[in-house]
Amino acid sequence: MDKIKALKNKAIEAVKGAPSLGALKVVESRILGRNGELTEVLRALKNLSEKERKEQGELANKIKIELVDLIKTRRNELEKIESEKDLKAERLDVSHPGVKPPQGHIHPLSLIIKEAGEIFNRLGFTVVEGPEIETEWYNFDALNIPEDHPAREMWDTFWLKEPKGKSKLLLRTHTSPMQIRYLETHNPPLRIVVPGRCFRYEATDASHDTHFYQLEGLMVDKNTSAANFKAVIQTFLSKILKRKVEVRLRPSFFPFTEPSFEVDVTCVQCGGKGGNCSVCSGTGWLEMMGAGMVHPGVFKNAGLNPKEWQGFAFGMGLDRIAMIRYKIPDIRLFYSGDVRFINQF
Ligand code: DAH
Repeated sequence: MDKIKALKNKAIEAVKGAPSLGALKVVESRILGRNGELTEVLRALKNLSEKERKEQGELANKIKIELVDLIKTRRNELEKIESEKDLKAERLDVSHPGVKPPQGHIHPLSLIIKEAGEIFNRLGFTVVEGPEIETEWYNFDALNIPEDHPAREMWDTFWLKEPKGKSKLLLRTHTSPMQIRYLETHNPPLRIVVPGRCFRYEATDASHDTHFYQLEGLMVDKNTSAANFKAVIQTFLSKILKRKVEVRLRPSFFPFTEPSFEVDVTCVQCGGKGGNCSVCSGTGWLEMMGAGMVHPGVFKNAGLNPKEWQGFAFGMGLDRIAMIRYKIPDIRLFYSGDVRFINQF
């Protein structure tokens, strides 16, 4: 009996003196846990005589109930104390200077793609995208570039392993295949621009890379003319280059346009004066893109009647636009992954 009473006094002292919730838990399990001191006493009752068992059993159970109660009370006290402590620790100092989160930067090509899309939107064009892996048909044949045509050499490219019995696949060399894809699935009149990545098997230098971005444009209606093209493209170039520019069309050749032109813009550095300007090598003009009036064969390949429709198409290098706009000297910087470059935008 005395042993049980001593145990009780020791336990009460330990519970009352537990300094934290964690410590209380330890005390609780030391007394009432599976191998706790009081638990052991209760377990040993069965070895006693009936009289002793009754007396000691009653006492031990009473003590157990008291202790459980006491632990509960102490737990409530400690919870209150600890949550007040937490609150104090959490107090917000509104005058404390903040920590600036690191901020990402939008790639200059993404900026140009977004801005070009917005300018063309305002001119009534829809922005659409096409696949980077193309079939030989869409990338070449449908655009009047048959297998034996010397023009294919202009677009030397990466071929992919051929799927059995299917059309040959390649990484698209230009965004022009979307002219066919879109005309096949949409009825004119229509106006679209197609930004996207293109690929060519090419030696790299400051102005060439094996991958780059183009923006294709296509407008088809009953009476669309080259004059319409000139007005649209001059408006676009003035906006994207942020200055009033003149545009010049020079005769050229592309298999999917007739007539075809090369589009030049007045030099952004010298304003067209030439002289000893290093940006345009003194010519006063910068070559910006290929363009032309959609070839009747292209309409036919897309299932449209060339007698009914006419339109213009163009394809420009977005890297070049970004290089001129932001004065970037080397195309390879766009794909270098160098944060010192990207952090400037
Ligand atoms: N696809 C041509 C290229 O990558 C550029 C081009 C020229 C696109 C004339 C056109 C066009 O739409 O009409 O070299």
